Amino acid sequence: MEFDTVIHGGTVVTASETYKGDIGISAGRIAAVAERLAGGARRIDAGGRLVMPGGIEAHAHVAQESAAGIMTADDYLSGSVSAAFGGNSSFIPFAAQHRGQSIDDVIATYDARAAQSVIDYSYHLIVSDPTEEVLSTGLPRAFERGITSLKVFTTYDLLNIGDAGMLDILGVARDHGALTMVHAENHAMVAWMNRELAARGMTAPKYHAISRPELAEEEAINRAITLAQLAGAPLFVVHVSTEGGAARVQRARAEGAPIFAETCPQYLALTRADLDRPGMEGAKYICSPPVRDTATQDALWRHIQSGTFDSVSSDHAPYRYDETGKLMHGPGAPYPRIANGMPGIAARLPWLFSEGVVKGRLRPETFVALTATNAARIFGVANKGRIAPGMDADIAIWNPETVRRVTLADQHDNMDFTPFDGMELTGVPEIVMTRGAVIVEHGHLHGTAGQGRFIPRDRVDLTGRPGAPVKETALMRAEETR
Ligand code: URP
Ligand code: ZN
Ligand code: ZN
Repeated sequence: MEFDTVIHGGTVVTASETYKGDIGISAGRIAAVAERLAGGARRIDAGGRLVMPGGIEAHAHVAQESAAGIMTADDYLSGSVSAAFGGNSSFIPFAAQHRGQSIDDVIATYDARAAQSVIDYSYHLIVSDPTEEVLSTGLPRAFERGITSLKVFTTYDLLNIGDAGMLDILGVARDHGALTMVHAENHAMVAWMNRELAARGMTAPKYHAISRPELAEEEAINRAITLAQLAGAPLFVVHVSTEGGAARVQRARAEGAPIFAETCPQYLALTRADLDRPGMEGAKYICSPPVRDTATQDALWRHIQSGTFDSVSSDHAPYRYDETGKLMHGPGAPYPRIANGMPGIAARLPWLFSEGVVKGRLRPETFVALTATNAARIFGVANKGRIAPGMDADIAIWNPETVRRVTLADQHDNMDFTPFDGMELTGVPEIVMTRGAVIVEHGHLHGTAGQGRFIPRDRVDLTGRPGAPVKETALMRAEETR
């Protein structure tokens, strides 16, 4: 067989095994995996390297207006370039509906924005206005097009859809085999804490962490899971930041419910002490839910190790430390007026590899599962996330021994800071491929704007976690069919 490229002499890591092998690539796909492969118009020596599926970044805000209307610093070009330098071959950012906007209009807007992506992409919708038209026509049409996941919020004035709205969306998603994701924090609890803190004049960045209590996440995760169980729908809980929230996910999974979840590096790497840096520096570390403490970090690691989380995503939400982003409302703005979110799309994989695999907390196979394979399965990306014949040649070749300190320049995004600045990490993705094309090689970008393609996604795969209807809906269905 003639190959365009052969990656030889490397150690292939998949979600289930690690072995020495060569990979032959033809027309953008993996054509063969074998102990030895001859030929190849290009031969890439992967001696001493790990050859893994390119990362799938399943949680990123790119060319998206925030809940408060601020545009992210990254567009699809800079966001995808940054992702590629961080070892990702594809990503699924959000396409956000503003109240009053049709889903067709949302998708048209993001299709135009995403046209410059260097890596393959899809979107998760964000639904903030579940009107009858959205539920009956807009969402089904989006699902038909292969946009098979959507996110809802239980908080933020302009996004919170309430329990009734969430049930409506869960029902429609269930009927079409789509997956609902949730940002879970109790809106009233956060609003109440904001008022309590304001009354005490506590408005510096560090109070953001106090304003969004662990209980607010735990309550909202419990509620979201409960609503999903009533609706008989699968649910993906994003950016879990608390031990209690993770425990609720774990319990639902132990019961066999189709509940999926992720956490993010910032909840494992940072604490609320970072929000107490001098002056307004703490603004850089404001995200929601907030970063917590070292005890929580330890608990989240245990949940990663015991299988509570399907993936570790970046929640890349890049707002610069200037008047276009964090400091839009002035250099001394109170914390509720500071943009929520931090960048991390380039840091996610190197940070997790170093802190997870190198430090012995994760097997390399688990790293692959958490960063590519599980996201592909859950979000219906049929041809990516695995190294096997027939799959897209989305591959990252890692030097597992290179030691470097994180710098802003290495992130290749449009940001003016990185929360991971100065951290010493071991392991670097040296070569990153999307559909067989080398897009990053030893710190150089080869990919070009517009090279990425839209990924039409399948329905959510509930194999092994089909769930069961609650008693009352089972009774209702039984009556219906009588
Ligand atoms: O603070 C964060 N994570 N901002 C991004 C939007 C969101 O809540 O996911
Ligand atoms: Zn969120
Ligand atoms: Zn997010």
